[in-house]
Amino acid sequence: MKHLLNPLDLSVEELDSLLQLAGDIEANPAKYAHACAGKKLATCFYEPSTRTRLSFEAAMLNLGGNVLGFASADSSSAAKGESVSDTIRVISCYADICAIRHPKEGAALVASSHSSIPVINAGDGGHQHPTQTLTDLLTIYSLKGHFDHLKVGFCGDLKFGRTVHSLINALIRYPGIEFILISPEELRVPGYIREGVLDANQIPYTEVERLEDAISDLDILYMTRVQRERFFNEEDYIRMKDFYILDRAKMELAPEKMLVLHPLPRVNEISVEVDEDPRAVYFKQAQYGVYVRMALILTLLGIQVA
Ligand code: CP
Repeated sequence: MKHLLNPLDLSVEELDSLLQLAGDIEANPAKYAHACAGKKLATCFYEPSTRTRLSFEAAMLNLGGNVLGFASADSSSAAKGESVSDTIRVISCYADICAIRHPKEGAALVASSHSSIPVINAGDGGHQHPTQTLTDLLTIYSLKGHFDHLKVGFCGDLKFGRTVHSLINALIRYPGIEFILISPEELRVPGYIREGVLDANQIPYTEVERLEDAISDLDILYMTRVQRERFFNEEDYIRMKDFYILDRAKMELAPEKMLVLHPLPRVNEISVEVDEDPRAVYFKQAQYGVYVRMALILTLLGIQVA
């Protein structure tokens, strides 16, 4: 039995198989419509979510399975003081697989060590968000056709943005990858990523503050929102929240084939006028999230569809 706690739990070969399966699911949805009949997915969300929880649920329903779960800590026995380890032991009696989101780093790891069913980390604090990474990778692969030799710009809250940390970890495994890290000084990518991942693996990167200085040279622009819920005080958040706004004027500086990704939710960092630009693929990205989660559920449950 295997869990997904970190994007690096999947080797490059396993990831490749998963993305191929997601591509087949997209092309032949009817083939998979009953693959999980009789199986149940539990979604245990201690933090708010729209995309991750609902795309997991849509994924299981698309596979002919059923879903159960809770959408907030307040609506579960966590409100009475129940631990994650006790909760997952109980969920293991009710479901075949579980996706968990929790504000504390490492919560999914704790759950996995007390679980008799596969556990999927659906986001643990500012740490990792592996299924968003799978979504991002499927989006890039489907629309660009490759991961190697891409120049990827990450813009916004690179300090607290767990999707950025997870995607950097996944992309450094491909040759010729290069990063432009676009953030204000206070929201720079943390040292454990800069020194521990980028420097340690000799990955080329530059850090800049102005989006205008980087955008003309990118294959992918990955925008992020400033993570209000991770700030210690509201004043700092208010000062930082509109630091970047991608608008039509900035898009005019961007290459014709650059793609704009965003894990969503968006706040102000992408103007709605950009939505009509064919390079803006963030809503397509949300759709890819369903296919890749379908592929992940099948893989972790060991279900093969002929
Ligand atoms: N991208 C993402 O994790 O969105 P939600 O917080 O809505 O799940």
